[in-house]
Amino acid sequence: MSDKKTSNAMWGGRFAAGPDAIMEAINASIGFDKRMAKQDIDGSRAHAAMLAACGIITSSDADAISEGLLTILSEIERGEFPFSVALEDIHMNIESRLTDLIGEPAGRLHTARSRNDQVATDFKLWVREQFDAVIISLDALMLAFLGQAERGADMVMPGFTHLQVAQPVTWGHHMMAYVEMFARDKSRMIDARARMNTSPLGAAALAGTSFPIDREMTSKALGFDRPAANSLDAVSDRDFALDFLTGASICATHLSRMAEELVIWSSAQFKFVTISDRFSTGSSIMPQKKNPDAAELIRAKVGRINGSLIALLTIMKGLPLAYSKDMQEDKEQVFDSADSLMLALAAMTGMVQDMRPNEAELRIAAATGFSTATDLADWLVRALNMPFRNAHHVTGALVKMAEDQGCDLHELTLEQMQSVEKDINNDVYEVLGVDNSVASRTSLGGTSPENVRRQIKFWKAELS
Ligand code: ARG
Repeated sequence: MSDKKTSNAMWGGRFAAGPDAIMEAINASIGFDKRMAKQDIDGSRAHAAMLAACGIITSSDADAISEGLLTILSEIERGEFPFSVALEDIHMNIESRLTDLIGEPAGRLHTARSRNDQVATDFKLWVREQFDAVIISLDALMLAFLGQAERGADMVMPGFTHLQVAQPVTWGHHMMAYVEMFARDKSRMIDARARMNTSPLGAAALAGTSFPIDREMTSKALGFDRPAANSLDAVSDRDFALDFLTGASICATHLSRMAEELVIWSSAQFKFVTISDRFSTGSSIMPQKKNPDAAELIRAKVGRINGSLIALLTIMKGLPLAYSKDMQEDKEQVFDSADSLMLALAAMTGMVQDMRPNEAELRIAAATGFSTATDLADWLVRALNMPFRNAHHVTGALVKMAEDQGCDLHELTLEQMQSVEKDINNDVYEVLGVDNSVASRTSLGGTSPENVRRQIKFWKAELS
């Protein structure tokens, strides 16, 4: 970065001396907002074309500006652009370079514009791309879960509450639960993207401009639905970034729950799944170890994403209208969260695609902990017309008996069962198996393989 200690070339007219080095350090955002170079150039080209169309600058000036900006874009892409901290941010770095390249016409680009509407526009364009990227990544993740669900639509596994075995469920059902979560995350992203898609450009510093600009034209050129209606709001609104961070936090929360399940399931104590070598690491001291590091890091990413959400909420809280420099602190939070979320989504997609459910272990675990006790109680209600509360009591006594004998419910003899409830007959054994248990749960949204297959079909059609 090249720096000179004169007053700022872009706004230094009323300044006799250059900024203190510390002032420059706290003020500069070029270290991070250079990530918005492409958006800045797109915004400026749209602005210049509009200025010419409205007769505010000449077409030849607009053409020179546009050409110069494209040259700058290729310099940036080639890594040859001379970024300068003294020029503060990406907007002034690019405008200053444009002056070097094309001279006087460059000075006309900032007509009827301010860095305030410029930065709001650039940042919106950047965040909008992230919404789109996250939406695409969520589709890929959902497809990975669908693949797993298809493979194990009728594979039994224990369902848990309080991490205690509760009732048997199907692997497919468990996988489809995540499809539902990530589908909601996707719809949150789609909602927020639609809400944010208004153009701040032309709001100028805060009050609009006296030049006869055409905000519809720049809005359209940049793919916005319409110009933002209020200039004060347009330059000071950052709730689109908060919407992104909120959606990212919730999505990362969902990712962390699956990540936690992977950590638990892949442990030697559970052995429910094998995580592929591609997403595991070894230990430098314990040769036998295979650690689910990717899952643990996905689980942790939610921490920094939540942190960014709270940081930006706190930055924005209490800011008077319109722009304040506080708002420059918006970008790093969003950049970091977008990077973290995209990486976590990609890692989870790979892990889910690769993971192998251990069918035999899942089946054994599904049957432990008297997981079909509810099926037994339901049978007593259905076959013997017992009130559910009584059935619950009788089942409790049978569970206690099995526990004392050290056996499972289906291993109790009919005589033993009849000693608790004389009307129990042989049919009861049909509901004590885990396959029968899951197959019987055909209520809407229930775990039966039949339901799971219907849901897979529904989501496949949705995602294609
Ligand atoms: N770098 C600034 C930001 O990110 C650009 C806007 C500066 N506007 C101003 N009036 N100082 O917010």
